[in-house]
Amino acid sequence: MTRQSLQLELAERPTGAIVPGRTFRLRRVAAPTEADLRDGQLLLESLYVSFDPAMRGWLDDRRSYVPPVRLGEVMRAQALCRVLASRSARAAPGDIVTALMGIREVGILPEDQVEPAAAPWRGAGSAGGGFRMTDLLGVLGPTGLTAYFGMTKIGAPRPGETVVVSAAAGATGSVAAQIAKIAGARVVGTAGSDEKCRWLTEELGLDVALNYKDPDFRDKFKAATPKYIDVFFDNVVGGEQLDMALGRANKNARFVMCGAISQYNSQTKPGPTRNFANIIAQRIKMQGFIVFDYAKEYGAAKAQLAKWLSEGKLKRKETIIKGGVAAADEAFQQLFQGGNIGKLLVEIKNPEEVARL
Ligand SMILES: NC(=O)c1ccc[n+]([C@@H]2O[C@H](COP(=O)([O-])OP(=O)(O)OC[C@H]3O[C@@H](n4cnc5c(N)ncnc54)[C@H](OP(=O)(O)O)[C@@H]3O)[C@@H](O)[C@H]2O)c1
Repeated sequence: MTRQSLQLELAERPTGAIVPGRTFRLRRVAAPTEADLRDGQLLLESLYVSFDPAMRGWLDDRRSYVPPVRLGEVMRAQALCRVLASRSARAAPGDIVTALMGIREVGILPEDQVEPAAAPWRGAGSAGGGFRMTDLLGVLGPTGLTAYFGMTKIGAPRPGETVVVSAAAGATGSVAAQIAKIAGARVVGTAGSDEKCRWLTEELGLDVALNYKDPDFRDKFKAATPKYIDVFFDNVVGGEQLDMALGRANKNARFVMCGAISQYNSQTKPGPTRNFANIIAQRIKMQGFIVFDYAKEYGAAKAQLAKWLSEGKLKRKETIIKGGVAAADEAFQQLFQGGNIGKLLVEIKNPEEVARL
């Protein structure tokens, strides 16, 4: 029987949050086969798909750093895939690769969109040396790299400085906060639950973690930054956290503007107002960035992250939702409601299952 492939297509542009069963539709199509391959292409099956807040932004038809997903198109997403067949020298059948595969089970991609995994994963189901295959989508993938470049290039904390990271229990925030600790800073993280805060202090070694839903959050934030803030790594942007950080900024503070998850679903996008003028008084440098800006340095950054991971200086967690492509709606809900600790992934196919053409 011909293999089928389930895929998630954009059915309707959301005006606010992604609406389960409405924004996307599931469609089963005949899976492409080896016979469909042209020179320079690879036939891939997805094992894990990465769920990133930025995916919400790709649904809006407006100018951004990438074009919007078109109506009817397979939802764009980064995935960890296994090569089923190849007409490219870049990877062979059985190899593990990362690729902008979209949320689908099977697909064909040109070789320039496929990144072969480094040695420990090549051709194997799992990696040794304490690494996990899924690290390639998290701590050794886009979110780990974002944390690395944002913290080392823009934040650049010095020993003894105070660093505050918002959404600190997420994929990017948790790595950014630990990199600041490695640099010798005093690190304060904010997150949306007490469980996340415990993970940040008890396992990741942050100095303080604050639940931003706590009614006393404002007072606690002030108490946690007695020497003010030298680096604010912001994953949330907008609303009270950025404003509070501006109010507590030290002279020459660096504000690393990484993401704006609090605004992705909202129609009104409030900017910081109350403490904005502190940028002038305290000579704050506020800089946005996109991880692609540092593409030429990915190799060295991955090597450093892998070294810290193997030395136990960097810890990570994943929240893996099972259920394949059909679990995408649930994953989007979890992402925006804070259901994940660390990197959020959906398992499309258990890697232990035999590859099938
Ligand atoms: N600039 C770049 O190149 C780049 C690259 C990758 C990611 N990013 C950005 O980095 C940020 C984190 O991404 P990620 O992939 O690591 O996701 P993540 O932090 O693993 O997951 C998102 C987390 O954000 C928090 N959150 C959701 N809605 C919120 C709200 N309204 N206010 C405050 N917190 C909220 C939730 O945790 P709580 O329980 O703590 O609320 C949720 O678990 C995002 O803003 C993303 O767009 C930027």
